[in-house]
Amino acid sequence: MEKPAKHIFLCASFRANGTPQGICDKSGGVELIQYLQEELQDRGMDDVMISLTSCLKVCDRGPAMVVYPENTWYGGITSEEDIDNILDSMEENEVNEDYVIS
Ligand code: FES
Repeated sequence: MEKPAKHIFLCASFRANGTPQGICDKSGGVELIQYLQEELQDRGMDDVMISLTSCLKVCDRGPAMVVYPENTWYGGITSEEDIDNILDSMEENEVNEDYVIS
């Protein structure tokens, strides 16, 4: 298996019992995963993997995701435009400061 160059962990708000209960799920962040997958494919970013996670503990900044290996935390991702802006930066190997959780 070839390891991905980057890995996006998108918060799906899962709690210990498996139920999504947090802000990222309620704010529609999880619904963007299909768009995120399609955009990665359209952009030829085949070396980027996506995984859904439990609560990332930054609920007040959600919907949230983390990009590794940079360990960049992004928040306020509520629209396809937000995804586009972040992926634009990733393609340039840059961090999009407009969404960074610091
Ligand atoms: S539910 Fe996403 S950070 Fe807590």
